Amino acid sequence: MLNIPDYWQWFQQARFGQFIHWGPYSAYGRGEQVLFREHLDQQEYAENACKWNPQRFDAHEWAEISRRAGMKYGVLTTRHHDGFCLWDSELTDYTSAAQAAGRDFVGEYVEAFREAGLRVGLYYSLADWRIPAYWEGPEHDPKGWDEFQTYVHSQVRELLTNYGEIDVMWFDGAWPHSADRWKSHELVEMIRSLQPAILINNRLGQPAGDTSFSDELGDFGTPEHQIVSEAGRMWESCQVSAWRLWGYATGERWRPAALLLDMLVEAASKGGNLLLNVGPTADGEHPAEYAEQMKEIGQWMDVHGEAIYGSEAGDVCEFITYGRQTRKGNNLYLVIRFWDGRGEVNLGGLATKVNRAVLLTTGEELPFAQTEDHVLIGGLPAEPPTKLFPVIRLECDGPPQARDWAVDRLWEGNPRRMMPWAAARGTSVFADGKPR
Ligand code: GLC
Repeated sequence: MLNIPDYWQWFQQARFGQFIHWGPYSAYGRGEQVLFREHLDQQEYAENACKWNPQRFDAHEWAEISRRAGMKYGVLTTRHHDGFCLWDSELTDYTSAAQAAGRDFVGEYVEAFREAGLRVGLYYSLADWRIPAYWEGPEHDPKGWDEFQTYVHSQVRELLTNYGEIDVMWFDGAWPHSADRWKSHELVEMIRSLQPAILINNRLGQPAGDTSFSDELGDFGTPEHQIVSEAGRMWESCQVSAWRLWGYATGERWRPAALLLDMLVEAASKGGNLLLNVGPTADGEHPAEYAEQMKEIGQWMDVHGEAIYGSEAGDVCEFITYGRQTRKGNNLYLVIRFWDGRGEVNLGGLATKVNRAVLLTTGEELPFAQTEDHVLIGGLPAEPPTKLFPVIRLECDGPPQARDWAVDRLWEGNPRRMMPWAAARGTSVFADGKPR
């Protein structure tokens, strides 16, 4: 168990959050980085951005989709690398509030998500591609850099002053500048003084010369497009729900609901969160495919959520054949990704005594037989009881633990632990194990 303050426990409980990439780039339908990737004319892009005026944006609808999916928090791009602000900033007029839309989208989002009982996070890109000094850096343009960096700090102050309690500050875009250049330590100090309970991610820049994400700054890690646990701190894997981009893209292919759910289960099984992205349309709606998938996942979460929320890393035994495991207290949850219809599951290597087995999906108690090395769980229907992943809850006598031989996977641990197992059949290459 990680040693974290009480006011951060919600994040470990939550496991599932909503990432939202939305801005004037959504109108291009080619992702959030179209300005840079296509080297578009800056002036023209800005003119279009100022005309951006979504008519169908309803923050309550967004919040409802996330809540129904079983998500517990949101993270909205308040400003992406293109520099356009989704709130009423006093420091620039390049905002949704001052331009055609005439609305403070951040304010609407914060209010609606809070009202739906969700925690609120703000994504903020340090980078602003419009500003020459950002590209030049302090060596070549010390004055410009200084002004730009002050602008960044002041915007963060605005965001964390004007919208009540904010739960997560999600930075991005530190590249190519170091934490020193961004004055990230001072930034963190300011953030903590404004919002003592906030969580800050690990993208505030590296010590000079280092290009990986910051280990020094950051309350939680942000593995991107991958689900890898981080030792010693909380983490959240951010993932696209489609195949490519974060911002809205026409012609996108959608990852199936089973794959999205599997990412959530994998994150939980490794002790982390999934921040699943959606790129709403320019007009402000979540793509119908996405909304549909979130409904499906939400229905699954209604029944199986206890295997996810507040769960701990659960890779207790070898279980790759069937699925993944999570743990909570004395319970071991077997999340079955592949249903083979044999009517039974054989779990090898559980050392802890099982008191009861329940198919969470239907609530039915399952017959089982436990021997030293195996738990044979029976009574399973031939057809999977849900289109997504059925879950079996094993209620154990204590925190579930593996036998010595099963603690490590094949390629890990001391191989000599398996010697008695092999030697029990004999020692020779002959079928009966006996030497000739
Ligand atoms: C990457 C992308 C950026 C996106 C971010 C989300 O850094 O370049 O566009 O916002 O991932 O984590």
